[in-house]
Amino acid sequence: MTSYTLRKASPAKTRCDAVVVGVVQTPKGVELAAGAEDVAAAWGRKLRPLLSSLGVKGGAGEITRIPTGGTITAPLLVLVGLGKDPGPVQVRRAAGAAARAVPNSASVALALPAESVELVRAVTEGWILGGYTFTTYKSASAKEDSAEHPGEVVVLSPEARDSAAKTAFEDAQVVAEAVATCRDWVNTPPGDLTPPVFADAVEAAVNEAGSGRGAPKLSVSVLDEERLAELGCGGILGVGAGSAAPPRLVEISYTPKHATAHLALVGKGITFDSGGLSIKPAANMHEMKSDMGGAAAVVQATVAIARLGLPVRVSTFVPMAENMLSGAATRPGDVLRMYGGTTVEVLNTDAEGRLVLADALVRATELKPDVVVDVATLTGHMVVALGDKVAGVMGSPEIVDAVRSAAASAGEDVWPMPIPEVMEERIHSSKIADLAQHDWIRWGGGLYAAAFLREFTAGLPWAHLDIAGPAYTSGGPSGHVTSGGTGFAVATLVDYARTLADTKG
Ligand code: BES
Ligand code: ZN
Ligand code: MN
Repeated sequence: MTSYTLRKASPAKTRCDAVVVGVVQTPKGVELAAGAEDVAAAWGRKLRPLLSSLGVKGGAGEITRIPTGGTITAPLLVLVGLGKDPGPVQVRRAAGAAARAVPNSASVALALPAESVELVRAVTEGWILGGYTFTTYKSASAKEDSAEHPGEVVVLSPEARDSAAKTAFEDAQVVAEAVATCRDWVNTPPGDLTPPVFADAVEAAVNEAGSGRGAPKLSVSVLDEERLAELGCGGILGVGAGSAAPPRLVEISYTPKHATAHLALVGKGITFDSGGLSIKPAANMHEMKSDMGGAAAVVQATVAIARLGLPVRVSTFVPMAENMLSGAATRPGDVLRMYGGTTVEVLNTDAEGRLVLADALVRATELKPDVVVDVATLTGHMVVALGDKVAGVMGSPEIVDAVRSAAASAGEDVWPMPIPEVMEERIHSSKIADLAQHDWIRWGGGLYAAAFLREFTAGLPWAHLDIAGPAYTSGGPSGHVTSGGTGFAVATLVDYARTLADTKG
């Protein structure tokens, strides 16, 4: 376990194995960033020629290691590029890159820009998340080869004695831990995280957060396949019908004493998406273990909101199913009756997310929350439209705007997409059921999906986040975002709950 402390001290005199400082690009050339003044002073006039001969350019994420030879107390100085205009977004990313650049240090001091609460938060979250690794399935010898985490990390900030900075520092650790657990769940192989196993893991995580002295008021219930049948959750049951592992619906509630608003969260929890009978191509099908990224995100956001004690009531609904093929699987042409009675004609078993979400959304609306937000790795269309780093957000304009600002402060990229009028007609085009789950017009498939979900929101203020792109990184790490599961949307949801607490409070 790593210990984290926030301190006001000079990085030139701090006793540790490595000091991390930022490098910025200015019109006059590269310079050490805010926080590194004492380090720059220790080198004095020798700094500029040294940076120049090392070829330091200061581009985002650029890493340079300098043995200090006693110029400062620590033996190693690690420079990380911040680009031209370092704000919290750039600092979070740089701290993340730096976390992977100190493989053999037992203690590290971070002297990155940290003169505001936003920057303290960015350094802390960025560092913890950039150093994330998932080694559960590596053999012991391989684990030893992989980077060791420093036992002691000191975040240096001129504001370290300020109570707002201390709170930001503590809160950042809570959020980062939630993001990391979300990543662990996404990275777990799908055969080891079937709906019953995932439901148990969520139940255990919620119970742990809700137990002990002064713990937040959290409760969780797991609805199994029998209960789902009694309730008539035809979407969840229909999608789960082809799997040997039965589906689940997990419901969590966080009920703080002085709640100012009531937020409902819904997350897509497909533990593996083979496509079902409308089977997916073989290439990269393994990545569909990440199809529960929305579920993992809403659960961990709920846990973090509760741990932070935010005065917002949160009701979280997580439908879990494995989309498989078998003699019992749902067929294209089948009609499912959703919780609440709406019938849906299934036309492509690979458009399963909207089916499980429909049941869960209706369950959510029954509590009459002030806002509903759903998070789902819903469509490849959104990846085509926005790329693999940006989530699409659709729904009620005021909620879409609020989610966008929350994402901006959380350092996640979210962009609004429309739900065009014509989708209304398309989702109502089934000849035999109330709704068509799919049509074979490819264009705007992500917007069709949003229009379909809207049918189940009872007209409540609502936003839908399609995180199909950013939930999972196929390539290598970048900044604080590591490869595999990213934990996308956890931080945004926590910040959204913060704004709900502020505006309604
Ligand atoms: N889980 C997928 C969406 C997805 C695609 C997530 C790529 C992450 C990366 C979803 O269930 C799906 O298969 N969607 C279909 C919808 C289509 C059949 C309307 C798609 O995107 O092709
Ligand atoms: Zn899916
Ligand atoms: Mn699918």
